[in-house]
Amino acid sequence: AADSNLSFAFDPHADPVPVSERDQLLANPGFGRVFTDHMVTIRYADGRGWHDAKVHPRVPLQIDPACSVLHYAQEIFEGLKAYRLADGGAALFRPEANARRFRESAERLAMAQLPEELFLESCRQLVKADRDWFPQIEGGSLYLRPFMIASEVFLGVKPSSEYLYMVIASAVGAYFKGGAPAVSLWVSQDFTRAAPGGTGAAKCGGNYAASLLAQSEAIRNGCDQVVFLDAAERRWIEELGGMNVFFVMDDGSLVTPPLSGTILPGITRDSLITLARGMGLTVREERYGIDQWRADAGSGRLREAFACGTAAVVTPIGTVRAPGVEFTIGNAGPGLVTEKLRSALVDIQRGIAPDPHGWVERL
Ligand code: PLP
Ligand code: COI
Repeated sequence: AADSNLSFAFDPHADPVPVSERDQLLANPGFGRVFTDHMVTIRYADGRGWHDAKVHPRVPLQIDPACSVLHYAQEIFEGLKAYRLADGGAALFRPEANARRFRESAERLAMAQLPEELFLESCRQLVKADRDWFPQIEGGSLYLRPFMIASEVFLGVKPSSEYLYMVIASAVGAYFKGGAPAVSLWVSQDFTRAAPGGTGAAKCGGNYAASLLAQSEAIRNGCDQVVFLDAAERRWIEELGGMNVFFVMDDGSLVTPPLSGTILPGITRDSLITLARGMGLTVREERYGIDQWRADAGSGRLREAFACGTAAVVTPIGTVRAPGVEFTIGNAGPGLVTEKLRSALVDIQRGIAPDPHGWVERL
């Protein structure tokens, strides 16, 4: 379509963050607080299609208070990282997988579907404009946040006829601060994340809004993250608020919840399944119950567990807590299989190891 060939206008920032201030920000960015100088916007209107693609200074939005996203939450997003490679170049990791998932999220939310080539080009353009914003710290990267909102000014409940797609970038370090060896999880009893037929497999803001109360409960109970059980039986492990989950058994095999439609099909999850199978490990995408988890942790049949996602990378799970229940996994720290998978992934992402699957797009 003509849409996918849109060219991007570039309006460089006339007054970017001064170098000394930027260096200071990049020395310890944390996660999601330090933003670059530029952003991308592309507009959509029924009858007109995608238009007005541009890279321009990062500015506050002006939107009408009746803008439909503010009322009915027709919003989707993605998260992917640009890495500085070992040889000084820059690269994106599997960006076409994010482009596809973004389109699938749009479809589920009845939104206009951004051509995948435009998604990819928008990410490339922003990294190019903000190439001086890579943090030079261990584990640092440029986290890209493509997102799209329904921008029609109308209070009727229907799919918007106009959309605003944007990409912003954040210089980031580790998602979990404190360098803890492992995270602790709270098993939500009262709240579920997504039900069959709902939006669990889409990356829409509403899923996250619905998870926040359960996440606050996790924090109140001294845990780092909430883990959700399935909505129908309240038994099967689904995923964390923003990460997928894997279990490592004593025979070296891995188990991860299947893509049942209620969890996000993580790109890190998919990559780790491929890497694990490439190492000769068995990976089973099958349901794993909370009672089984507790029993296997107790008997030693379960050796390790970890969470994974773009932001969290691969993070060991040390302890699991629920009302009146607490159990520890393995030595409550990083296990061997977890560490092996983490470094295999990170080494490909950083251009340290060969890229046999063609996952790294050099910019
Ligand atoms: N599950 C949820 C709910 C998430 O928000 C994320 C993060 O994007 C993931 C899983 C992991 O997905 P990915 O590996 O594509 O980042
Ligand atoms: C990501 O990993 O990209 C996410 O969207 C998850 C969120 C916890 C930041």
